[in-house]
Amino acid sequence: MAQGAVIGIIGGQGWMGRSLGIALLEQNVVSPERLVVSSRTGGGEAYRDWPEVRCVKNNRELAALADVIVLSVRPQDLASVDIEAHDKLVVSLLAMASCQEIASRVGSRRVVRAMPNAAAEIRRAYFPWYASPEVTEADRRLVQALLQSCGTARELPKESDLDYLTALSGAGPAYPALLAQSMLEHARQRGIADEIAREAVMQTLVGGSLLLERLGTDPGDMVERLISYDGTTAAGLRTMIDGGFDEVVHRGLDAAHRAASGSR
Ligand SMILES: NC(=O)c1ccc[n+]([C@@H]2O[C@H](COP(=O)([O-])OP(=O)(O)OC[C@H]3O[C@@H](n4cnc5c(N)ncnc54)[C@H](OP(=O)(O)O)[C@@H]3O)[C@@H](O)[C@H]2O)c1
Repeated sequence: MAQGAVIGIIGGQGWMGRSLGIALLEQNVVSPERLVVSSRTGGGEAYRDWPEVRCVKNNRELAALADVIVLSVRPQDLASVDIEAHDKLVVSLLAMASCQEIASRVGSRRVVRAMPNAAAEIRRAYFPWYASPEVTEADRRLVQALLQSCGTARELPKESDLDYLTALSGAGPAYPALLAQSMLEHARQRGIADEIAREAVMQTLVGGSLLLERLGTDPGDMVERLISYDGTTAAGLRTMIDGGFDEVVHRGLDAAHRAASGSR
């Protein structure tokens, strides 16, 4: 249990807000009567299994009820969040908004920035977070307990690290999906039936990732091992590497990092 605190999620009916809200409930980190969620249009079926969850349309009402306020609106909607947090702990999930911007918008300097990814929906997110200096040790323990309900949560030493990880882990399924799409396209062009191609690609990416996780070794060691093995895979790896695989990936991550850093 999150030390009896009432958690309010602004945007708690949205994709990320409800992933967090439901993870907190399903894992008994927060009891339903201690969860408040808001959205401008209300409604939403997300919390129908927990009728004690309070669903409101007024963010000021949520801010008054909650001990911890989670901001889970899209960055372009931040300006529409008109609350006075009175130095309550505020956890922002927004890309591109700094701790300072959040603090001046909500009227609290106890701000944590956290960056989820879409795998929160299956409790496999990587959820790094950064705390501004005004955040206490007790706040930090609470934030870690809340965020790890969605997967792996990790406090970062610098806010700039969060901008970088917004580009890398915040993208969630995006880069694996791009690789899968390219492999699938190739298999189809070579005449493999659609169903088999999809099964082969997904099982290769998922099974390969799980094996890497289980082994816990540096992925580079696996690449080296397979190149030294000198089988069919080595031919594929050498051609991809010589063709500029690293360069393309690094350029893509640089572009996403620039976007995540905004004007900073
Ligand atoms: N989805 C992801 O994979 C992902 C990954 C990393 C980070 N994030 C971050 O998570 C945040 C939320 O993204 P999302 O994907 O969950 O977006 P979303 O599905 O559009 O959800 C946002 C929710 O905010 C509500 N909302 C907007 N303005 C509001 C206001 N003033 N008061 C109360 N509720 C308001 C919207 O509902 P109404 O229109 O009904 O108000 C909507 O339900 C973003 O800042 C994003 O950067 C998301």
